[in-house]
Order: sequence, then structure tokens, then C-alpha cells
Amino acid sequence: MKDFKVISNSVERTKEIASKLAKYLKKGNVVIITGELGAGKTNFVQGFLESFNLEEDIISPTYNIVNEYTSAGTPVYHFDAYKLQDAYEFLQIGGEEYLEKGISIIEWGELILSVLPKEYIQIKMSKSEDDVNSRNLEFIAYGDSEEYMGILDKLKEELD
Ligand SMILES: Nc1ncnc2c1ncn2[C@@H]1O[C@H](COP(=O)(O)OP(=O)(O)O)[C@@H](O)[C@H]1O
Ligand SMILES: [Mg+2]
Repeated sequence: MKDFKVISNSVERTKEIASKLAKYLKKGNVVIITGELGAGKTNFVQGFLESFNLEEDIISPTYNIVNEYTSAGTPVYHFDAYKLQDAYEFLQIGGEEYLEKGISIIEWGELILSVLPKEYIQIKMSKSEDDVNSRNLEFIAYGDSEEYMGILDKLKEELD
């Protein structure tokens, strides 16, 4: 499965979907998330991070390029690429080392694609016409990675 779409009808459901994805990830995996203001990215990332049973408080991404969570077995890094000047700044802050050391979730990752691995999972979030509490989520495995396609297969099956 290269891609699939799912609708979330509540904040809780968005967080639940995020936590199910997170469970399949391991060191070196990269997820990028995109969507207009109010699409639900922050809620998704919150659910994603909560699933790791971290000891640290989950920090609002408002001020930092990267928030690091190292209390779980595998470190988890939450980036906001929107705050970077350019892709080069990602390299300057040691971005490549982060990607190798842990699981990374990158808001607006498509802004820095030139410095990201060729293989990654993208989540596109958007508001839905149906209902104020409804959001469209599209999951895409880029780079024809067997690993990421396998993860999306399992995630889709779990959500069906
Ligand atoms: N199904 C849903 N999933 C996520 N957020 C939702 C959903 N339905 C309504 N919302 C609301 O949409 C807003 C999403 O905000 P946020 O997660 O901060 O978005 P972003 O980070 O993309 O700007 C919140 O006010 C939230 O309550
Ligand atoms: Mg946000």
C-alpha cells in the first residue's frame, strides 16, 4: 500500500490514529506532516508523542525548531521545518544526526525535502466539508520503501 485516506471525526480519533502509527515506527524512521492552520497537526503530533509514554512533558512546538524526547527507549524528535530559514539550516542544527538516532516527526517537512531521506511517510491533513470536527488524513509512503508500505498496510487494516 503506497497511500490511503482516512477520516477522523474527533480530536480523540486523530490522536488515536497518530498513536497507532507511532507504534509501528523504529529508530531512523521519518514522518512528515503537512496541513493548513487548524488542520489538526498539533493534535496529531500530541497523540503521536503520548503513545511513547514519555517522562518529559510534551512541549508546544511554538518556539523551537526541534523538541527532543529521550526518556523512551528510542529517542523521538519533533521538528517544525517552518521555523527553519532553509534546508541548509537543518543540516547546521545537526538534523541528519537526529534522523539517524531516533524517530522523527517533522511538521512542514516538504520544505526541506532536499536534506531528508528519499524514503519517508507523509501525512497530509485537511479540514473536511462534512463537519467542523471532521478531518481528512492521507498517508503516503514515499520512495517505494517496503518498510513504509508495510507499515501503511498494517495501519490501514487496523483502522478499517
Ligand atoms: N478531527 C479533528 N482532529 C483534529 N483537530 C480537530 C478535529 N476536529 C476539530 N479539531 C479542531 O481543530 C483544531 C486543530 O488545531 P491544531 O491541531 O492546532 O492544528 P494545526 O496544528 O494544524 O494548526 C483544534 O481547535 C481542534 O479542536
Ligand atoms: Mg500546530
